[in-house]
Amino acid sequence: MRGLLLSLALCLTLALTASTTTSSKPVDFEKQIEPILEAKCHPCHFPGGKMYAKRPFDQPATIVALGEKLFTRIKDEAQRKLIRTFLAEQKAR
Ligand code: HEC
Repeated sequence: MRGLLLSLALCLTLALTASTTTSSKPVDFEKQIEPILEAKCHPCHFPGGKMYAKRPFDQPATIVALGEKLFTRIKDEAQRKLIRTFLAEQKAR
C-alpha cells in the first residue's frame, strides 16, 4: 500500500513538472518573428518587394533555410535570441 502511494505521488510530481515545462509556449512565427522582419526588411523581402520571389520572409521555411545568415542584418540581441530559439525549435521537430 505504501509503495503504491509513493509511486502515485511520484507520478503526480512528474506530471506536474511535465505540464509546467511544456506550458512555456513555442515561438509563434507570425506573432513574434514576422513583425521583426517586417519592421526592418520590408518592402524587399515581402510581397511586392524585389527579393520576395527568392527570399520571402513571410514564410518560416525561408528563415529556417537562412538561419544565422540573417544576423548580418539583425544586430539586436533580444531579436537574435528570439530567432535562435525559433530556429532550435524548428530543428527539433
Ligand atoms: C532595400 C531592400 C532590402 C531590404 C530592406 C532588405 N533586403 Fe535582404 N536582400 C536584398 C537584396 C536585393 C538581396 C540580394 C542581394 C544581396 O545579397 O545583397 C538580399 C539578400 C539578403 C540575404 C542573402 C540571401 C541569400 O540568398 O543568401 C539575406 C540573409 C538578407 N537579404 C536578409 C535581410 C534581412 C534580415 C533584412 C532585414 C533586417 C533585409 N535583408 C532587408 C534587399 C533587401
